[in-house]
Amino acid sequence: MDSLLNLQSLIEGLPIPAWRAFERIGSTNEEALHWAEAGAADLSLVLAEEQTAGRGRHGRRWHTPPASALAVSLILRPRPAEIRWPARVTALGALALWQVLHTWDAKIQVGIKWPNDVLVNGKKVAGVLVETIWESDRPQAFVLGMGVNVFKAALPPLSDLDFPATTLEHEMEQPPDRPRLLRAWLEALLEWREHLGEPVFLQTWESALLWREHLIEVQTGEHVLTGRWLGLEEDGRLRMQTPSGETYLLPFGEVRLRPHPFHHLER
Ligand code: BTN
Repeated sequence: MDSLLNLQSLIEGLPIPAWRAFERIGSTNEEALHWAEAGAADLSLVLAEEQTAGRGRHGRRWHTPPASALAVSLILRPRPAEIRWPARVTALGALALWQVLHTWDAKIQVGIKWPNDVLVNGKKVAGVLVETIWESDRPQAFVLGMGVNVFKAALPPLSDLDFPATTLEHEMEQPPDRPRLLRAWLEALLEWREHLGEPVFLQTWESALLWREHLIEVQTGEHVLTGRWLGLEEDGRLRMQTPSGETYLLPFGEVRLRPHPFHHLER
């Protein structure tokens, strides 16, 4: 059975201390934020079969119809490296999914659109939204929310999109069952978390990113910037070179990135 609600057996052997699973909820991130404020332990997990008010980045809605997707939020009590490099916490969710998908199916092209969207064959299948609980200027908890479009029903309406979307069922010969996918994602995430402060984390994140050394367009607020992206800084900022040859560091945050329309013509 593909249901995610039998979580206890699904997380058997993983260091998940507590979980909440819902048939239907507004947003798993919202629930996890309340739970974290009430003292939930590191690695407490919230998931839902359906979200009615799922949240995406840039204030967008995230569409999660019943039994079609993964909608999961993990509470992380910050470790020193995560406080130092919070952008890596966001990357963690995407990196873990990237690893699972490209290990499972060599026929699909999996990549991460900086900073943290997972694309399969050039379209978005998953997104990550990290929300933080602060106490003065110190994070008390991160809520790492991940949404994966698994079955065709999960395809969002065009009005919710700022980038072409797809589902695993559209792209893979055999779409994975959701419990197996969730388990594999959690295992990969737990493993990568142990290496979050190490160079290998940054190197792997960078190697998974799409359009490296190609022309990209970046929108920050009102401004659209064109340039070639060169690499990642330790804190997750993107290093790009503008047409006039200057190096520019793109802040991690409310930035929209896409390939330049002519990116495939050059190199
Ligand atoms: C994005 O815009 O790309 C990020 C989408 C994140 C969606 C997930 S689904 C589970 C969790 N709960 C939410 O309300 N949002 C995140």
